[in-house]
Amino acid sequence: MFWCAFVVLFLALGNELHLSHATEVSVNNTENKLCLYANLMVNFSVTYEVGVNKSETVLFVLPENVTTEGSTCKNTTSTLKLGFGDGHSWAVEFTKDNKTYQVDSIVFTYNLNDSSVFTNSTSNETKSVTAKPRITNVGVDTYYSCKSENVQRVESVTQTLYDVTLQAFVTNGSKSDTDTVCAADLTSTTVAPTTTVTTTAAPTSTPTLPTPTTGNYSIAPDFNSTACLMATFGLRIGFKQGDKVETINLVPSATNVSGACGVNSSNLTLTSDTIKIMFTFSNDSKKFHLHALNVTVKPATGAAVVAVNTNMSIWAAAVGSSYMCNKEQTLTVTETLTLYTFKLRVQPFGVEKGEFATAEDCRDDTTGSWIVPTAVGVALAVLVLIVLIAYFIGRKRNQGSSYEHF
Ligand SMILES: *[C@@H]1O[C@H](CO)[C@@H](O)[C@H](O)[C@H]1NC(C)=O
Ligand SMILES: *[C@@H]1O[C@H](CO)[C@@H](O)[C@H](O)[C@H]1NC(C)=O
Ligand SMILES: *[C@@H]1O[C@H](CO)[C@@H](O)[C@H](O)[C@H]1NC(C)=O
Ligand SMILES: *[C@@H]1O[C@H](CO)[C@@H](O)[C@H](O)[C@H]1NC(C)=O
Ligand SMILES: *[C@@H]1O[C@H](CO)[C@@H](O)[C@H](O)[C@H]1NC(C)=O
Ligand SMILES: *[C@@H]1O[C@H](CO)[C@@H](O)[C@H](O)[C@H]1NC(C)=O
Ligand SMILES: *[C@@H]1O[C@H](CO)[C@@H](O)[C@H](O)[C@H]1NC(C)=O
Ligand SMILES: *[C@@H]1O[C@H](CO)[C@@H](O)[C@H](O)[C@H]1NC(C)=O
Ligand SMILES: *[C@@H]1O[C@H](CO)[C@@H](O)[C@H](O)[C@H]1NC(C)=O
Ligand SMILES: *[C@@H]1O[C@H](CO)[C@@H](O)[C@H](O)[C@H]1NC(C)=O
Ligand SMILES: *[C@@H]1O[C@H](CO)[C@@H](O)[C@H](O)[C@H]1NC(C)=O
Ligand SMILES: *[C@@H]1O[C@H](CO)[C@@H](O)[C@H](O)[C@H]1NC(C)=O
Repeated sequence: MFWCAFVVLFLALGNELHLSHATEVSVNNTENKLCLYANLMVNFSVTYEVGVNKSETVLFVLPENVTTEGSTCKNTTSTLKLGFGDGHSWAVEFTKDNKTYQVDSIVFTYNLNDSSVFTNSTSNETKSVTAKPRITNVGVDTYYSCKSENVQRVESVTQTLYDVTLQAFVTNGSKSDTDTVCAADLTSTTVAPTTTVTTTAAPTSTPTLPTPTTGNYSIAPDFNSTACLMATFGLRIGFKQGDKVETINLVPSATNVSGACGVNSSNLTLTSDTIKIMFTFSNDSKKFHLHALNVTVKPATGAAVVAVNTNMSIWAAAVGSSYMCNKEQTLTVTETLTLYTFKLRVQPFGVEKGEFATAEDCRDDTTGSWIVPTAVGVALAVLVLIVLIAYFIGRKRNQGSSYEHF
């Protein structure tokens, strides 16, 4: 009974900690520049002896309040050591080769003499277990991201890692804006590759990257004229690197804009250190649409990814108006590359006085948004019909019965 109550108390305590916050830590190197960053959650389950042939199991979580003493950052090896409670620690060992880094091991050390955790333990020793999680092939200058659970069982200890964001070998003292997503997260968020455009209310496929900054881009026919093409949007690109998907945001302030306006076609090219993207719009004098995309991504590691699709027909609106989509849009350019746009508005033809013309909103062109109102309308019509029929039947019956009375 008492034991049960204790476990429940621990669960409640753990839950409290779990709900309140993840463990977030930063480690600086000798030059006082950020070199290691982690934001993660770990659950522990430890079985220990309380008597001859008798054991207890205790559950607890990695607390929010940890020390980073003993953490080190070197050229090709790093250690993230988190100390907590009365002599417990959790240490992650990283190694790096030319292009990737990995976690070699996680050493969990626990002090059985801490009676606030290991009540009635017969031992007063400090024990260690070494787990070898599969966290490998993380691109240098990207962070490892894994929302899925990673369960490590070693001897009498089970560790569950989840909601993990980890970056070792941080370059230039700032966290990367590119992530390497674990395989488990990819299989759990399947995207439909059959449709070219899907409008999603909530972002699902890219877990940890912040929403990209909205950029304003315009093209003028010559130096003295006002814009002939205008576009504003935030852009994220997801691309396959081997069996992993990485995502990267376009940073407008570090982006070069070029392009040209024609009668039947207009081009907008955005170039940054890592991304080159060309949008080709065409125009059949009544409507315009995005006709082609040529995207090149040069990741920090690995080969450049090129995706070209010249058979697109999206972002369509009447010439003389603009196309707008505030919601996040997912454009599957090729099997290996996907664009995500945010707060989009484009007008590739007929811009006057440097201002967008009236907008046609994407709410009007997604089939999904038609199906719902149609279904609701049909349902309402059927309901009205049923009520009417019921009314007439009721009236007939009433009339019938009133005749019978006479
Ligand atoms: C610890 O041992 C005492 C006495 O042996 C017992 O009353 C108590 O229930 C034990 N506590 C736990 C959590 O097992
Ligand atoms: C971690 O532990 C807390 C409390 O013990 C629990 O609520 C949560 O579901 C656990 N999470 C995982 C992934 O095991
Ligand atoms: C780590 O370095 C950053 C600047 O890179 C600084 O703002 C921060 O205070 C440092 N943290 C510690 C604990 O020294
Ligand atoms: C402990 O278990 C072993 C076998 O599992 C048994 O031989 C031994 O008698 C047990 N000891 C006690 C005190 O129950
Ligand atoms: C964190 O731990 C330190 C020392 O272990 C303690 O002084 C401090 O009050 C703790 N902070 C919180 C918010 O619990
Ligand atoms: C570590 O890197 C620094 C600067 O890049 C270099 O000077 C030093 O020799 C390297 N040390 C080792 C052991 O490779
Ligand atoms: C990678 O590093 C090894 C030494 O660790 C070196 O021999 C090799 O040339 C490097 N490869 C590349 C592509 O830089
Ligand atoms: C265990 O903890 C007690 C106090 O709770 C302390 O006096 C004792 O020295 C500790 N033993 C070890 C081996 O750390
Ligand atoms: C630790 O436990 C051993 C026996 O398991 C005992 O001999 C020793 O005195 C204990 N040490 C402390 C500091 O409690
Ligand atoms: C731009 O306008 C100035 C006067 O406003 C004129 O002198 C110049 O030739 C024009 N340049 C071009 C490229 O049209
Ligand atoms: C836009 O680019 C395409 C393909 O490179 C080219 O054929 C077309 O002429 C360009 N349009 C303008 C207006 O420069
Ligand atoms: C795509 O762009 C790259 C360079 O930006 C260029 O070399 C390539 O020819 C383009 N492909 C097509 C089909 O336009």
